Amino acid sequence: MSANPPAAVIVLAAGEGTRMKSKTPKVLHEICGRSLVGHVVSAARELGPEHLCVVVGHAREQVAGHLEEHYAGTRTAVQYEQNGTGHAVRMALEALGRVDGTVVVVCGDTPLLSGDTLGALAATHAADGNAVTVLTAEVPDSTGYGRIVRDPATGAVTGIVEHKDATEEQRAVKEINSGVFAFDGRLLAEALGKVRTDNSQGEEYLTDVLGILREAGHRVGASVAGDHREILGINNRVQLSEARALLNRRLLERAMTAGVTVVDPASVQLDVTVTFERDAVIHPGTQLLGTTHLAEDAEVGPNSRLKDTEVGRGSRVDNTVADSAQIGESVSVGPFAYLRPGTRLGAKSKIGTYVETKNATIGEGTKVPHLSYVGDATIGDHTNIGAASVFVNYDGENKHHTTIGSHCRTGADNMFVAPVTVGGGAYTAAGSVITKDVPPGSLAVARGQQRNIEGWVARKRPGSAAAQAAAAAAGEAGDEG
Ligand code: UD1
Ligand code: CA
Repeated sequence: MSANPPAAVIVLAAGEGTRMKSKTPKVLHEICGRSLVGHVVSAARELGPEHLCVVVGHAREQVAGHLEEHYAGTRTAVQYEQNGTGHAVRMALEALGRVDGTVVVVCGDTPLLSGDTLGALAATHAADGNAVTVLTAEVPDSTGYGRIVRDPATGAVTGIVEHKDATEEQRAVKEINSGVFAFDGRLLAEALGKVRTDNSQGEEYLTDVLGILREAGHRVGASVAGDHREILGINNRVQLSEARALLNRRLLERAMTAGVTVVDPASVQLDVTVTFERDAVIHPGTQLLGTTHLAEDAEVGPNSRLKDTEVGRGSRVDNTVADSAQIGESVSVGPFAYLRPGTRLGAKSKIGTYVETKNATIGEGTKVPHLSYVGDATIGDHTNIGAASVFVNYDGENKHHTTIGSHCRTGADNMFVAPVTVGGGAYTAAGSVITKDVPPGSLAVARGQQRNIEGWVARKRPGSAAAQAAAAAAGEAGDEG
């Protein structure tokens, strides 16, 4: 929270975003695990404003629903017709009632803007005693943006002119309006009443407020952003991908600075909500999403996608897809494992190659090393599940649970037909279909007996390569004996 919290932050998000060519409203497109408007709201919240109001219009129910679900405490104001950014702010002020103190206005399509930059703008605004302070930036290509007009003699900002309304000379200006402002709330409300629509788009421009306040003799200031990339506004999907790359890079740098090794940053993607402890290692081709957390010395990748997954201290996760899994300390997962929701792996356990787990609690030191499906199961400590085993949990209508005790040794190629329980210390024979509970300490054998029909090949396949091999093998056996 900043030292001087503003009275209100208003986020403009009523536009359709036609250039996205999407059925999803522009501000609900996502980068790094958060909607565009979600990024802006999160930055705004860092200021600790008294009111946080988002102006919605196009697809307003969808946008308002999203805000209600993910950003409780955010108010919305409706702008039924998109008559311009000035009109949008007017709708917000009408919804909020009289606001004394600083009002910060920001667009819902600038997801890279940080809370620090917003806070610095509000601080400059207060320190200089301005009626309005605009955040500007020098950009390599100012096409489409509003240009900052300064008095040639004093350098003071005199106004903003929109691209479409600008002269050739004004269009050459590289200093642009970021769309972020700090206003004196009462002066803003007054000035908005004087904004006209005699411009090329027939809209109420928020940017006209600067000229109006200046002409009325109030102080107008500008604060130049340190990094112009931070104010990147998203209008199309090319800019969406650029913003994602910039934000991803920012998140990776933050992680590396905090002591995480990222072997190949170019091939790693992070969501803003991912957290780390130091000496975690991320190998190439890895996506860490949602609330995923890597504890100290945890190593993930290469080629893994973890969502909402906790990786314990010193665990190793290789070529794995995981969703909502809890991986304890010193666990080994993969290569080629799929951990589905409700997977909980105890310390020092192992999930090996081509193993899928779901709603499964696996005890300390327990191993499921090869080619298995473990669904709806509880397995105790230090048990070994034989290769190619299936926990048969679904009868076509309902899911059932399998419980296996501690220190069990189940044979390869077992089917555990749930509901079924294997007691502690029990063994099962390879190839068994376990349909009945196995008492603790017993050996369960549930498979057909082997029968050898001797001489079958010689009788039924005479002269074949198999018959010749059989004769040779019999001869060798005879020689030896
Ligand atoms: C606006 C600024 C321009 C600035 C640029 C920065 C104005 C008149 N122009 O132009 O000076 O350089 O942003 O990115 O302010 N919106 C509403 N209601 C409306 C119109 C817009 O809520 O009636 C919202 C949009 O959803 C969007 C934001 O305001 O989030 C900006 O609107 P947009 O149409 O993208 O403005 P620009 O033409 O980019
Ligand atoms: Ca824009």
